[in-house]
Amino acid sequence: MPIPQRSKPQRGLWSSRLGFVMASAGSAVGLGNIWKFPYITGMHGGGAFVLFYIFCILVVGIPLMLGEMVIGRHTHKNPVGAFKSLKGGAWTAVGWLGVIAGFVILSYYGVVAGWAVDYLWLALRGAFGSQHASKVPELFTELLSSDLRQLFWQAVFMASAIGIVLGGVRKGLERANKIMMPILFLILVFLAGYGIFSPGGPAALHFLFYPDWSKFDSRGMLEALGQALFSLSLGMGAMLTYGSYADEKTNLPTAAFSVSFMDTCVALLSGIAIFPIVFTYGMLPAGGPGLVFKTLPIVFTRMPAGNMFAVLFFLLLVFAALSSAISLLEVVVSYYCDEQKWSRHKATLLIGFFIFLFGVPSALSNNLLKEFHLIGDRNFLDSVDFLASNYLLPLGGLLITVFTGWVLTTRLAKEEIEKGAVRFHFYPVWHFLIKYISPVLVAIVFLHTVGLL
Ligand code: PHE
Repeated sequence: MPIPQRSKPQRGLWSSRLGFVMASAGSAVGLGNIWKFPYITGMHGGGAFVLFYIFCILVVGIPLMLGEMVIGRHTHKNPVGAFKSLKGGAWTAVGWLGVIAGFVILSYYGVVAGWAVDYLWLALRGAFGSQHASKVPELFTELLSSDLRQLFWQAVFMASAIGIVLGGVRKGLERANKIMMPILFLILVFLAGYGIFSPGGPAALHFLFYPDWSKFDSRGMLEALGQALFSLSLGMGAMLTYGSYADEKTNLPTAAFSVSFMDTCVALLSGIAIFPIVFTYGMLPAGGPGLVFKTLPIVFTRMPAGNMFAVLFFLLLVFAALSSAISLLEVVVSYYCDEQKWSRHKATLLIGFFIFLFGVPSALSNNLLKEFHLIGDRNFLDSVDFLASNYLLPLGGLLITVFTGWVLTTRLAKEEIEKGAVRFHFYPVWHFLIKYISPVLVAIVFLHTVGLL
């Protein structure tokens, strides 16, 4: 099959190849690793969930990330444009699914990120100094009981994300990422080390790494798969969009592998940092979405210069959330700029604003809309998160793996990957995984959970 013609890329390229990897890692590493991974691991019994999560990263995550990057760089287009130009017809809907997922995910992502900004503000005012240890658990309850406070910080966060995306190609952010990500990593290593040697350390390690399969069911499998996709920013075209800004010489397999590796390390480290606190203070591992906000600050109040650590930690968390949020916004914005010919300015402002509005019910979901349960006993925020991670992303992921393996074909993908004199040594493994294994695994888990298998 001849390589489809495509127009010359007129879009911004990354300032360097490392810039591309760091920006993709910035997209991947975010609240998904530090807020979500520990709490859903806690809700699904620990070790078995973690093992299955790592299995999903290896078998679905890494192959799919490479697939998305290849499609992006091959077409130099946004997700809708990419599928339209490669195949068109019904496949264009895959791009659409991504744009919708970006919109939906960012709506509540902004709310949770707002909690982190609130905590940064609390830290700046010294709320995590040693004299306040007993107050920590109340802080989160107080925050959730104030709709206005949550709305305010959500607005602040969304305004910052919009501001950055308005700037076009993310030079400033690329540079900042290069500094902030390694510091975040170091802090997490320190906190994990602190955790391991605290009284709850051994119990935490046992919980996280000793699989008890009796506590793990098919629900947990879908959650693990959804979380792997969410955490790696896959299944909705974010990596595709970032790949579309990469140049021909970029080594995509290395990029996909390093990003996935970093992301997984950060998730595991944050689990190792948080669960010792849970066990030391006799809290419940299945404490739900507030877990990180209720546990980590306790440690800050106990260590020397803890409040300073709290400031640094929440600053980095906010930053990690920002670099993920802009990739979500970028997917939607790039569609409106490329396909609808909106100016970047108009697209970013309008879409950013609508996403904020759509996030308002999530911001109110712990107070004013507390009684409003959309799915099961989940409030609005948790329901939207559940829908996006467990339905939109797996469905998108399934379709993109099928597309890469069967429609684009792995042979063509190999040509794209090897354009810049890059040798793709793992081609046979990737070919086998993305064509036969990943789609089947995602399909089985997905169909089983929606009750069709
Ligand atoms: N991966 C991001 C995180 O872990 C969230 C995200 C999902 C970003 C999907 C882009 C696309 O926080």
